[in-house]
Amino acid sequence: MAETKSNMDVSEEQTAGNAADQIGQLRETIREHQYRYYILDAPAVSDLEFDALFQKLLELEAEHPELRSADSPTVRVGGDVSERFERTRHPAPMLSLQNAFSMEDLYAWRERVKRFLPEERRGELTYVVEPKFDGLTVVLHYEQGQFILGATRGDGEYGENITPNLRTVRRLPLRIPVMSETKLTAPERLVLRGEAYVDKADFEAYNRRQAAEEGRTFANPRNFAAGSLRQLDSGISAGRPVKLWVYQALILEGVGPFPATHSGNLEYLNELGLPVYPDYRCFADEAFDALADYVADFGERRHELPFEVDGVVVKVDSLELQTILGFTGKDPRWALAYKFAGEEAVTKLTDIVVNVGRTGAITPNAVLEPVQIGGVTVKSATLHNEDYIRDLDIRINDTVLVKRAGDVIPKVLRPLLEMRTGEERAWLMPAVCPACGEPLVRSEGEAATYCVNNACPAQLVREVEHFVSRGAMDVEGFGIKQAELFVEQGFIKDLADIYYLPWESIQAMEGYGEKKVANLMSAVEESKSRPVDRLLTGLGIRFVGDVVAETLMEQYASLDELMAASVDELSQIEGIGPKIAQSVADFFALEPNCALIEKFKAAGVQTASERTGQAEDKGPQLFAGMTFVLTGTLPNMTREEATAYIEARGGKVTGSVSGKTSYVVAGESPGSKLDKALRLGVTVLNEAELLGFGEKTE
Ligand code: IVH
Repeated sequence: MAETKSNMDVSEEQTAGNAADQIGQLRETIREHQYRYYILDAPAVSDLEFDALFQKLLELEAEHPELRSADSPTVRVGGDVSERFERTRHPAPMLSLQNAFSMEDLYAWRERVKRFLPEERRGELTYVVEPKFDGLTVVLHYEQGQFILGATRGDGEYGENITPNLRTVRRLPLRIPVMSETKLTAPERLVLRGEAYVDKADFEAYNRRQAAEEGRTFANPRNFAAGSLRQLDSGISAGRPVKLWVYQALILEGVGPFPATHSGNLEYLNELGLPVYPDYRCFADEAFDALADYVADFGERRHELPFEVDGVVVKVDSLELQTILGFTGKDPRWALAYKFAGEEAVTKLTDIVVNVGRTGAITPNAVLEPVQIGGVTVKSATLHNEDYIRDLDIRINDTVLVKRAGDVIPKVLRPLLEMRTGEERAWLMPAVCPACGEPLVRSEGEAATYCVNNACPAQLVREVEHFVSRGAMDVEGFGIKQAELFVEQGFIKDLADIYYLPWESIQAMEGYGEKKVANLMSAVEESKSRPVDRLLTGLGIRFVGDVVAETLMEQYASLDELMAASVDELSQIEGIGPKIAQSVADFFALEPNCALIEKFKAAGVQTASERTGQAEDKGPQLFAGMTFVLTGTLPNMTREEATAYIEARGGKVTGSVSGKTSYVVAGESPGSKLDKALRLGVTVLNEAELLGFGEKTE
């Protein structure tokens, strides 16, 4: 009978009902996020969170096939067409990619590829790995070599015609082949897929300028690129630093023969003068482990790239095998997007506290509900200064977007205004220093607020922490805890007091056993013989970090000599600008600072250089007496590696180009340093030439 359902039926129906609700809600949330992401260029959640929602919906739909629906976000490619642009139909559906988040997924994909290929063809398998550029996908049409149409991806079938805006992208050739001397002729028809993007540095510079003028800023480079190209006024696009990589020929027609592989296509497109990212890698199927290693390694190093990538794309190289493999739904079987763990996360800001820095600068910090970002638990993030909080209207109890890129300090990007509940409270910079109670000062025209009390214990703690740190005097076992304790106890009133600590009283304190004190004592003792530039670094003079300290102490045999130098004399030194020179002179003009140096001397701390014969065991000093400046991203070496390479050969690396610079080493996206080098006629080397330079002369 209809009314007498068994318990079983009821609970099953309830589950189905709950699932229907849940699926309905998820679809709506996802649609909304897609709209915010694709149309408004203002996402409300991190990609990672979006992926999690999407994954959940996929799972629920798989469990409940009866609830599938043709308008679910899972059966169409995200991205609607804004009303503002003319619609244009793509010549073929603009598919998306299947995502992988783990090595297991990667290997499982390889197995599936093999399963779908006839056995006798599996031996031909090779793969191409290239970055997954995080920008705005564009479709570019060329006819008889002329660029005639450019569109966004839109919903996969129709995109927005943004031709006039794309014409302003300098990397996009309006005519191919670009070099008339090439033997190639343009194909009759060429439709390309590519990614328009903005370099991280250009994005940050733009946001900084905008913030200064109280203009609109963008949440990330992707939104900046998209926002720049989806302008009704192409004059605005033209002023934006948008770049482009192309990575797929969707249609290639004309008099062939045309390449039979994806990598062949990339090479061909490159020869036509199109912007193809050069560092793609090919792997044979037997070398799949090496491919997996490369993918993992790429993930580690991706922050060194000048632009953002959110993963790599692995593709079957043979176009014929690609055709055999075909598609499942909206994804090709021949390609896989391997996504790296996201860098952004959404969490709640529970409080704002201020931190007193070494220079007395007051930095507001966000206390966060702990959140995982890229495998690390983040509990706090910087809020920079008072204006940052005010401009972005960040409040206590706000839900915020937090970013942690590489090893840099996490920062709060912005509050998610649509998540406000009314429980939020505005924050005000305190009027007095939380450590010493003296009034805080903010000078006109400066963003930072300072505690100007020279005797502020919090500042002294930070100064001590810096002095004993690895980059300075490197006192093992001495950290912020010891600094706080000894300052609080009154044992340390200035930096030199580190060498006059009352060890007996310390040993009487809790947690300071005989062994610990003996170790600390000998670490302090040992630090006395550090090279003098470390002591100079430890003093914490404004603008004098380890590189500047080293440069200065190469010129002067002792701190006494340095103290006697005039601003003019100091500015003559290669790598020392007028700002640094002034700061050093100001520091030593103060009597208490000179007394401090005397106190170090009296304690037996080394204040003069000891010239050692070290250079001899360093190998051939090819670059002796030469000065180098690095600019841009080198293809294989990090900045640190290049610096170490040059220094190991007796050369010096400085930060700015002048007539005294011997060589400028330039990589991808060089800065104004390259322009200056060219103006001054300084020889410019690329990475290979730098390395070759050594070899030839050796
Ligand atoms: S190949 C049939 N290669 O990532 C699909 N896509 O979710 C062919 N993307 O918007 C796409 N870098 O446009 C490919 N090196 C690359 C890519 C890439 C970024 C974009 C793609 C799409 C999204 C896929």
